[in-house]
Amino acid sequence: MSILFSPLDLGPVRAPNRIAIAPMCQYSANDGCASDWHLQQVMNYAMSGAGVVTLEATGVTREGRISHGCLGLYSDECEYALARVLQAARAVAMPDTKFSIQLGHAGRKGSTHKNWDGGGSLLTHESAWRTCAPSSLPYAANWHVPAAMDEAEIERTIDAFGRAAARAARIGFDMVELHAAHGYLIHQFHSPISNKRTDAWGGDPQGRLRFPLAVAEAVRAATPTHMAVGARITGTDYIEGGLTVEDAVDMARGFKTRGLDYVCVSSGNIIAGGRPASGPGFNVPNAAKVRAEAGIVTRTAGFIADAHQAEAIVSEGGVDQVALARAFLDDPRWGWHAAEKLGVTLPLPKQYNRVAPKAWPGVKIARPS
Ligand SMILES: Cc1cc2nc3c(=O)[nH]c(=O)nc-3n(C[C@H](O)[C@H](O)[C@H](O)COP(=O)(O)O)c2cc1C
Repeated sequence: MSILFSPLDLGPVRAPNRIAIAPMCQYSANDGCASDWHLQQVMNYAMSGAGVVTLEATGVTREGRISHGCLGLYSDECEYALARVLQAARAVAMPDTKFSIQLGHAGRKGSTHKNWDGGGSLLTHESAWRTCAPSSLPYAANWHVPAAMDEAEIERTIDAFGRAAARAARIGFDMVELHAAHGYLIHQFHSPISNKRTDAWGGDPQGRLRFPLAVAEAVRAATPTHMAVGARITGTDYIEGGLTVEDAVDMARGFKTRGLDYVCVSSGNIIAGGRPASGPGFNVPNAAKVRAEAGIVTRTAGFIADAHQAEAIVSEGGVDQVALARAFLDDPRWGWHAAEKLGVTLPLPKQYNRVAPKAWPGVKIARPS
């Protein structure tokens, strides 16, 4: 029996299996609005066999986006465009597929070029915008120097998270995920590397957790009880003096007491180059520790690509759910092929009844391992 293909409760939401598609920026939005690119991609993922499909990091304000091509959820236009995508994806989705959206704010990592244009800060003539952060420290040399947020801007930003979550609820998402990792604003407040404040929003671990927990409260308050709320968190900054897995446990405990249903443990990127070369399932040990010590449903991601590897992580790795990014980019039917490898029968759409290799019994079709 496959654990990977067994259901998982994320608070009020039952996912049909333990496979999530990790959020992946597509740099293909128009002023924050989802485009036809998103339509085809999310429709594809809806039929991928993943139990949870997570849409990319979505800015809760216009300035909270990473690049000009990033999704946003700060206007009625953004809301309508995403509603169209979700409605179409649900129409073709495999049974019980759940849809989630990652809400974030880029902070000092905003106003950058699209990834395929090389990343890095936009120049003034490229419609760069003002960036903000807990402290006025750039992400790297030659990046924008962010403005240190004052009390009013902090409160406005917390409020924006709540308003974006309310829009996600209105659109009909099943879940919302806070982006508290990868060096973006919530992580910037949490990490002592980027938060040098001496007021109540910084200083000791409790002060550095204040903003992340306030955002969690605002988002939970803005979402109905039938929706799950979770967060992608940092298992380690990989830097002397940075966040460690103990900080991740504290954050997960804090989120749990604010009503969050799960955490997804990732790592790194609080500074440029802030993630060493890593191997298969590199975040699993930290995720297992967070799950054991915080007692919250825990997902992890990072170099998970093989069905048997994913099965082992959820059956013996001490983690409840896996999120895969590049494996689904490569193969939007990853869930079907994983099921095949693990001897699980999925209710595939009838239109695909004659798909190989079933159409040619006995003929072995090579699939990427
Ligand atoms: C194209 C691309 C875009 C990404 N965008 C996001 C994002 O929007 N939010 C996020 O938390 N992680 C993002 N990531 C990181 C992935 O979600 C994932 O954690 C990482 O790629 C490691 O998983 P993998 O080895 O399965 O690819 C992105 C990764 C890729 C490849």
